[in-house]
Amino acid sequence: MKEIAVIGAGTMGAGIAQLAAKCGCVVHLIDVNGDVLKSGVEGIEERFARSVEKGRMSEADRDATLNRIRPVSEIGNLGGVELAIEAVVENIDIKHKVFKQLEEATPVNAILASNTSSLSVTKIAESVADPSRVIGMHFFNPAPVMPLVEIIAGEESAPTNIDAAYQTASSWGKVPVRAKDTPGFIVNRVARGFYLEALRLLGEGVAGIDEIDQIMKTHGGFRMGPFELMDLVGLDVNLAVSTSVWEQMGKHARFTPHEIQQNLVAAGHLGRKTGRGFYSYATEHPLSAFPVSRQSFDLNPKLSDALSTFCAKSGATPTGSTEQFVLARILCSIINEAGLAWDAKVASSDDIDIAMQKGTNYPKGPLAWADEIGGRNIRGALRELNNAVNDGRFQPAPLFANAD
Ligand SMILES: NC(=O)c1ccc[n+]([C@@H]2O[C@H](COP(=O)([O-])OP(=O)(O)OC[C@H]3O[C@@H](n4cnc5c(N)ncnc54)[C@H](O)[C@@H]3O)[C@@H](O)[C@H]2O)c1
Repeated sequence: MKEIAVIGAGTMGAGIAQLAAKCGCVVHLIDVNGDVLKSGVEGIEERFARSVEKGRMSEADRDATLNRIRPVSEIGNLGGVELAIEAVVENIDIKHKVFKQLEEATPVNAILASNTSSLSVTKIAESVADPSRVIGMHFFNPAPVMPLVEIIAGEESAPTNIDAAYQTASSWGKVPVRAKDTPGFIVNRVARGFYLEALRLLGEGVAGIDEIDQIMKTHGGFRMGPFELMDLVGLDVNLAVSTSVWEQMGKHARFTPHEIQQNLVAAGHLGRKTGRGFYSYATEHPLSAFPVSRQSFDLNPKLSDALSTFCAKSGATPTGSTEQFVLARILCSIINEAGLAWDAKVASSDDIDIAMQKGTNYPKGPLAWADEIGGRNIRGALRELNNAVNDGRFQPAPLFANAD
């Protein structure tokens, strides 16, 4: 791709524009909000200035790259553009308007991609005359750094456009995966259990915020715990994704948003960006913002045995029953969701594993992890957990229910 357009110069649009310009593309960066457009370009300039300071970029390269970025305030004539990537607010009506404008402003063979996190690509394509041009290209934040790009085919997307987007993402140094147009695609679906099961454990008083984070890091090998990660992403952003996936998945209990998170968002405690979320950032070392109201829990012998086997086979060595309960519940949720996504043909097993490692830094792909643990052990843990809850959320995926 020699010439592209990026619509929206906010968090994602500015990052995608920076990446594409760095890879040699002329980028028309479009935002209706002049202040955002200005600060989007200034952010790119600052990041390049740091690269020059650190000797990772020459001054000549910086100047040439910045010259390729053309900031404009409206979608005008984009006659030379081969690919337009839309990164405006997550609102279907606004996206429809933008795609209609893009269809008219770009050549008929230009690809029209949306960076949507949670809307259906097929639905977004409804506003254009030729939906074969519309695909999903889902980058992760920060776009210049995070390697994953989910390439999403809507019902009418032309396979040649999917292939071209895949090649483009690869040529920009990214790791693309292919995903079906289903709620949350791969990452935002499979990752839900990491957050929601942690919230349920907290709500039930099984363990505290920093305790759950520590267990997932020490015994699960995760780089960040679920509460640390929600604070980093923003509780509001994370809740919006959970709510959207829950609504699109028929309000299944696996995805029910948790009231602890809803209450924090309503109170304006959104995580690092407001100085307080699950942790308080007033001190150098963040502290849990509120204590757990600890409740005792009962593991019957069958559940305890099943979770011990599951944990031992997962490579973790949690000794106490709290540690086992926390690790097994969160890991079972993630692995089962990966199995359900595979059963629903959302993506290949390799792509599901790559997506979770490259999009969220998981220590292992959940399906490769499942192979290590063994289908029967996963089924055993899921069945016992499902018997212990009343909402069916641990019902084993067919992949595990039918395992030998
Ligand atoms: N923030 C994330 O972590 C993240 C990650 C992956 C995907 N996404 C998705 O990327 C998209 C953008 O998210 P963001 O976080 O960058 O949002 P943002 O609010 O930071 O930026 C959106 C920008 O779009 C602009 N805009 C609105 N209407 C426009 C129009 N008609 N023409 C041109 N510009 C217009 C706004 O002025 C705003 O600056 C959303 O679909 C979101 O779901 C976000």
